[in-house]
Amino acid sequence: MPTIQWNNLWRDQMVTWNKEEAYGNQWGDPDKLDILASVRERFIEPFVTASKTALEIGSGGGRWTQYLLGFHRTICVDIHREMFHYLIERFGAIPQLSFCQSDGTGFPGVPARSVDYVFTFGTFVHLDPPLIEGYLNNLRSVLAPGANVVIQYADKDKPMAAENSGFAMTTGPIMRGMVEAAGYTIIEEDTETLPHSNVIRFQLIP
Ligand SMILES: C[S@@+](CC[C@H](N)C(=O)[O-])C[C@H]1O[C@@H](n2cnc3c(N)ncnc32)[C@H](O)[C@@H]1O
Repeated sequence: MPTIQWNNLWRDQMVTWNKEEAYGNQWGDPDKLDILASVRERFIEPFVTASKTALEIGSGGGRWTQYLLGFHRTICVDIHREMFHYLIERFGAIPQLSFCQSDGTGFPGVPARSVDYVFTFGTFVHLDPPLIEGYLNNLRSVLAPGANVVIQYADKDKPMAAENSGFAMTTGPIMRGMVEAAGYTIIEEDTETLPHSNVIRFQLIP
């Protein structure tokens, strides 16, 4: 089961990364891989708004952060501050990026009702269900009215996820149940495109 401690492996991998290729592209470059481009086109691009604030959970080396830079502000959340140093090296100290080091389920310092859009990819697939529930609960207070939340999560009903011990024990029904129990309404979901995971978009029930 991928615990917070298990997830330290990303920091250990990144600090020894060969910087010729951006850290994260080893899992697929969304500019080159069709299935990832379709996630970007369907779940990110329609929501990017120059007056609004985005928050990315598990921003890592910025593989998806690069598409969020059109927001007024993008808050990068990660358990490892080393990832923030990498992002500053990669994108420069640009004013729209800010950083929030999480304890694994929280958003210290993020103001209440300030976030219009949340994205996470490659992160919740490795979070045990109690951590996912923790994030779903803690998100409620930082979301602005009408905010959209987009989460890619592991689907253990798909063979590629079932065979990967680093993938969390989630499925479509388990994730949908957690989302609804935490007080959200599901707007749309893509269960077809990715071979090991699904992408769900939801909002707070007003
Ligand atoms: C597999 S990497 C994916 C990074 C990036 N999202 C991507 O797709 O390239 C997972 C990232 O999530 C971070 N992470 C792991 N557990 C986390 C948690 N509970 N809260 C926030 N970030 C977490 C790791 O430090 C790492 O940067």
